[in-house]
Amino acid sequence: MNESVCPVWVGYLLLNPLRKKLQNPEHLLTPYVKPGMRVGDIGCAMGFFSIPMAELVGDTGQVVCVDIQERMLKKLKKRAVKARVNNVMDYRICSRTSLHLATPGQPYDFILASAVVHEVPDASLLFTEIFQELKPGGRLLLAEPAGHVSQATFDREVVIAETCGFRVMKTLEIRRTLGVVFEKPA
Ligand SMILES: C[S@@+](CC[C@H](N)C(=O)[O-])C[C@H]1O[C@@H](n2cnc3c(N)ncnc32)[C@H](O)[C@@H]1O
Repeated sequence: MNESVCPVWVGYLLLNPLRKKLQNPEHLLTPYVKPGMRVGDIGCAMGFFSIPMAELVGDTGQVVCVDIQERMLKKLKKRAVKARVNNVMDYRICSRTSLHLATPGQPYDFILASAVVHEVPDASLLFTEIFQELKPGGRLLLAEPAGHVSQATFDREVVIAETCGFRVMKTLEIRRTLGVVFEKPA
């Protein structure tokens, strides 16, 4: 895991509509994100996944959007207003040592960590916090860009998540992406 953080200009590239041909957010998330759920998007950037997540949880759900860069969240908020989903969004700027995920009495049903774990200084801290904040039986979807992140690095991330208590539920088959769904054992 290295500590280089994705620049804001790359945040715009990540919104490229062609990306949906490789990673269709609805296809990827529909099996796990249901109406009324409380979900989190870690390293959300400008919301390639957060906005589809908001559409899937609907007006009775909530999407907590976490990023270390305020400019990413500001752009996401503008996009969420335009998409008419801002009412279900909760934006949180995190630090290098905490995701600031916790809200007392409100655990999460599902958390997404797409293309972010390789940027954090301590993956173990991140997985521990996510594990604590998920409901028993809650899911974590970990995805990393293949090539940019090697299979060996991804495998190490999976082992760290397991060490923090997660159980692998499913390995995902997505083009140019390494992906695993974990469960917090009930
Ligand atoms: C490559 S982008 C991925 C964006 C989005 N998840 C996606 O798949 O389109 C990585 C994002 O993670 C954020 N990030 C980097 N380090 C972080 C950390 N320690 N905690 C939370 N977010 C972080 C960056 O600011 C950036 O917005």
